Amino acid sequence: MSTTHSNVRYDPVRNTAGDQDDGDLSDDDVKAQSDQSHDTLLGPPGSTQSTRYLNSFYTGLFAGHRLSRSYIASCFLIVTAVVSVIGGSGYWAWKTGQSQIEGQSPPWYPTPLGGTLSSWQVSYDKARKLVERMTLTEKVNITTGTGWAQDLCVGNTAPATNVGFPGLCLQDGPLGIRFADHITSFPAGITVGATWNRDLMRKRGAAHARQAKLKGVHVLLGPAMGPLGRNPAGGRVWEGFGSDPVLQGVAAYETIQGIQSQGIIATAKHLIGNEQEHFRKSFEWGIPEALSSNIDDRTLHELYLWPFAESVRAGVASVMCSYQMVNNSYACANSKLMNGILKDELGFQGFVQSDWLAQRSGVASALAGLDVSMPGDGLHWIDGKSLWGNELTLSVLNGSVPVPRLNDMVTRVVAAWYQLGQDAWEHHIPNFSSWTDDEYGYLHEGSSTKQEKVIVNKFVDTENDESREIARHVAAEGIVLLKNDDDILPLSPSLKQQGTQNRKKVAIIGEDAGPGNGPNHCEDRGCNQGTLAVGWGSGATEFTYLVDPLSALKASFDSSTVDVTSSLANKASSSLRKQLAEQDLCIVFGNADSGEGYRFWETQRADRNDLELQKRGSALISNVAEFCGGPVVAVIHSVGPVIIEKFVDMPSVKAILFANLPGQESGNALADVIFGRIDASGRLPYTLGKSLDDYGPGAPVLYYPNAFIPQVDFKEGIYVDYRHFDREGIEPRYPFGHGLSFTTFDISDLTITELKPKSALPSPRPKGQSPPSYDESIPPAESALFPNGFKKMRKYIYPYISSTNEVKKGSYPYPDGYDINHEPSPAGGAEGGNPSLYEEHVAVQVSVTNKGLRKGKEVVQLYVTLPDSITEPTTGEVIDTPVKTLRNFTKIELKPGERQLVNLTLTRKDLSFWSVVRQNWIMPEGEFTIAVGRSSRELGLQGVY
Ligand code: NOJ
Repeated sequence: MSTTHSNVRYDPVRNTAGDQDDGDLSDDDVKAQSDQSHDTLLGPPGSTQSTRYLNSFYTGLFAGHRLSRSYIASCFLIVTAVVSVIGGSGYWAWKTGQSQIEGQSPPWYPTPLGGTLSSWQVSYDKARKLVERMTLTEKVNITTGTGWAQDLCVGNTAPATNVGFPGLCLQDGPLGIRFADHITSFPAGITVGATWNRDLMRKRGAAHARQAKLKGVHVLLGPAMGPLGRNPAGGRVWEGFGSDPVLQGVAAYETIQGIQSQGIIATAKHLIGNEQEHFRKSFEWGIPEALSSNIDDRTLHELYLWPFAESVRAGVASVMCSYQMVNNSYACANSKLMNGILKDELGFQGFVQSDWLAQRSGVASALAGLDVSMPGDGLHWIDGKSLWGNELTLSVLNGSVPVPRLNDMVTRVVAAWYQLGQDAWEHHIPNFSSWTDDEYGYLHEGSSTKQEKVIVNKFVDTENDESREIARHVAAEGIVLLKNDDDILPLSPSLKQQGTQNRKKVAIIGEDAGPGNGPNHCEDRGCNQGTLAVGWGSGATEFTYLVDPLSALKASFDSSTVDVTSSLANKASSSLRKQLAEQDLCIVFGNADSGEGYRFWETQRADRNDLELQKRGSALISNVAEFCGGPVVAVIHSVGPVIIEKFVDMPSVKAILFANLPGQESGNALADVIFGRIDASGRLPYTLGKSLDDYGPGAPVLYYPNAFIPQVDFKEGIYVDYRHFDREGIEPRYPFGHGLSFTTFDISDLTITELKPKSALPSPRPKGQSPPSYDESIPPAESALFPNGFKKMRKYIYPYISSTNEVKKGSYPYPDGYDINHEPSPAGGAEGGNPSLYEEHVAVQVSVTNKGLRKGKEVVQLYVTLPDSITEPTTGEVIDTPVKTLRNFTKIELKPGERQLVNLTLTRKDLSFWSVVRQNWIMPEGEFTIAVGRSSRELGLQGVY
């Protein structure tokens, strides 16, 4: 999509200090970076944007210019298949659709009914009244998308017309409205995490959702809190908020509350274990099955599920199950995950939607707790052969899917709609098309049935000063000042502190400083060119504008005393080196990009190949540091941790700013911090190690399949990121939570007060209320026939059947364990789990004083160490626990000399471990250590509880 409707009305570079000429430092900088992306998506000639994602085995197999990983994966597949044929059943199991590996995920049936919690009672009462009047096909319409590109949004459901329930528009993504014009590209999740600012997290969510509402969206496909960052090079780490469950959980909670404050349904994604892109999805990597993330129960609860529990506690109305398998059962057909953990233990009352084509089975996924199939197609894009749609109709008619399960699926969607007050919206339909930039387009772009073009894009301007301001503020507070020797930052616009001459010279160097070929140069932002403001994939947006750092920095220097020159190539040519020597200051940029699995850039397919800065960024920064006549400020834009060892200790590198992925206000936000218009107040949302090895044996991405279904064993358990560094005694380059301010703070006077006495277990699970009940009889098959004279669109997904003869009765092979009734989990009972888990047990107070001369912001971080020698009460097994874990934090602003008391609390859950034996959270006996400070390695205050 283009930016045709963008910059005219709005001048994004503000705080200008007058025009300056862009002096030419290098021969290279005129040569704009060429687009080096290779698109694997071999759409048919004349194909439109609806061909995005249309990967096939063949495109995966033969695309690329070298022996790609998909190629190797495919060869592996072929060899394995042949060996299996020779060796026995493997190949036939695949052909017959049975799984090859015994499932390790226990069965959990039936799906708990929604409507058992008082917080949703009113919505469920209303939903029941609507759902009981719906026909079978209307119900199926609500559960199944209409197919990729069959309507205007990336996901669409059809309406239940007779009862007045609308079709829903589901749209990406986590940082702005995808495929839309006149929207804000907010900073990415990882930048939001780096702010450690709850208020900003919430405001960004609300501003984003306000725009979604104006565009006619019902459901936003975000926030993302998986991946968590087990694999620092994982392609989508940047969509989430950081590599700690509490930081992720707080950011998810605030974002969801912000989004839903505007009446938009938020989606907590991706449940769960989608930590890497390689092999995340069937057929995308040349093999028919996705990988299995094998996660033990305690690790699941204490690490990966924690942010989802917080999301449900925040009232999230939708959850997206992920592409890959969890313990060898597809996440979207994993009954333990969806029925047992999400709907019973976490008390989730909304609906589970599949990631796009993550559904791999029909009846099985319905029984396992999936409520909505997205985008509605079957096993492949736009195949018109839904696993649900008419198939779901048939499986209800032949009794395979029990009527109460279908009613529950539908009620969950309708209740979510009421819960968010969407029933009060009038004429709420999408006023943009995901498939064209033009005003006129097809309503059903993905269908080859002949259609007339109609107005699809109304170019509704959803941006305003407030959203731009929030985007800028988040981007600025998300910048982490890693190092600031000699207090080189903040700079004065006249650079009075640098050099001796009256006129000062500043060089701005690196491709990442400049606009490149424009922010929307590669589809879905799938290449690294120009300044990096977002990763690639469905989590990206079309930029309305992007303020590049060079423009904003130039505009901020005082042109009467400072000459700014630039070199926007990542090459220190000999002429550049010579000119560098004359500079009073050099600002040099580097970056690292990654994205979603359906795209690759150069040799990089989604996940990063390593943790190095890309495009020779480290060499550039080192060269500039060697030749610059003055001090050097390095700025890094990155999707995740990068290795900065080559230059971090070079004496001329005085400051390093880690600016994450700032979104459209990139340059303005950077200038705000560099010139001290606001304090540097970001903190690292993950650990910066000295090498990938530092992150432990589980950290590398699995780049080559290790089995027919690639197996990724999360053997490191809960020891991810700083928990691993702490346990192994590894000195990080910069620890989790680190970040400098332009002022200094003193944190003192720790007091710890018990609010509630210790006790091992939470209170008994509270009793829920009765869910809605309906007539459970199977409706007559005739009621599901295509209406007379109905005109079908090719590939569009319908709920209707063509003949009652299609209904084939027989006995459905229900999965093992289907008839076992489960006791409700003692850890459940409310949204997010047993309410007793969230009762506050301890109050922690510290005093914070701003000792410096500038106003500034401090992040007060609270870490807990569980008592020594914990054992599992029933078995005596020793429970190994991390050296410390983040449990709470807050960010405060103080004027020079100002002092403030900061109060933080700890809940029962914060002080417990997950007992796999008791299947509950247990607060161990003994002394807890409570530490407070400004990073995970700077914890000046310690006390016990
Ligand atoms: C796949 C991605 O994994 C998911 O995050 C996104 O929401 C859907 N596609 C829809 O675009």
